[in-house]
Amino acid sequence: MGRIRKSLGRRIDYLAKWLLRFRLVSIPARAVANSSYAWSFISRTDRIRANRLRDRLKEGELPQHISIIMDGNRRFAWNSNIERDLGHRRGKEKLKEVMDWILDLEIPYLTVYALSTENINERSPGELDSLYDLYVAGLNEIADDPQIHERGVRVQAMGRLEMLPERVREAISNAQSRTESYTDFLFTVCLAYGGREEIVDAVREVAADHAKGDLPLESIDTMQISSRMYTSDLPDPDLVIRTSGEERISNFLLWQIAYSELHFTDVFWPSFSKVDLYEAIESYQSRRRRYGG
Ligand code: IPE
Ligand code: IPE
Ligand code: MG
Repeated sequence: MGRIRKSLGRRIDYLAKWLLRFRLVSIPARAVANSSYAWSFISRTDRIRANRLRDRLKEGELPQHISIIMDGNRRFAWNSNIERDLGHRRGKEKLKEVMDWILDLEIPYLTVYALSTENINERSPGELDSLYDLYVAGLNEIADDPQIHERGVRVQAMGRLEMLPERVREAISNAQSRTESYTDFLFTVCLAYGGREEIVDAVREVAADHAKGDLPLESIDTMQISSRMYTSDLPDPDLVIRTSGEERISNFLLWQIAYSELHFTDVFWPSFSKVDLYEAIESYQSRRRRYGG
């Protein structure tokens, strides 16, 4: 009897999993999936799949620099029937998980887009305030995280930081100064960041050097611009991931992504899973193989 129930349970789990994966009929799928069989089945198959994928990825060449446009917090909140700010909080928690996954893969550079210059103009003061609180909490947690110190992760923020409130700038200098001697990994968070603004800032420096007589016109080339970008100590990203189904760059690292592989996924940032990360890297590897890069 027990065995029959078990095999029936498995069949139900299988059906639920398929329905959920393809989002065919989400209401009946959810009803079936409320069985504990279904959830244990799904989480077990996901774990096995993630481990298999990771082993396969490690056989190929991993990207050295991954950058992520972490998008979809508010739609995640709306879909899960929770407050907008809780959606942002889940986004912050997700980032800590993703950092762990990146460290486990020993990918040395991670750059994330957390706030654009445009966001500062367009979001309400209330939303910005709670985002700023989350950045302060997140940066302080990172600065206190023993793993960051054990693994040698240098943390830095980049963007027009003068646009941020004092408390965020303090948390940034705390995280930066406590990790400045580390060289194994570099984690960069883009805050009050805009790709066009970054290019404008670089061009202003070029113009100033030219006006001083230090930089003749014929010496102005891509190297001169690159060396004046905020990211001059970073290699260009190999892979850019954007969550939430939007297929835009939204003013992120415009100069640096000239040759990056772009990967767009439908999941909202707080739902981004280990398998999603591994699939992005897998698609990067298969595209590299195809053109032999
Ligand atoms: C990303 O999520 C976080 C920030 C831009 C600060 P959003 O807040 O853009 O959420 P959606 O894209 O509107 O769902
Ligand atoms: C891009 O997301 C910026 C960040 C993820 C921080 P947005 O949600 O602000 O971008 P748009 O407005 O959809 O282009
Ligand atoms: Mg968005």
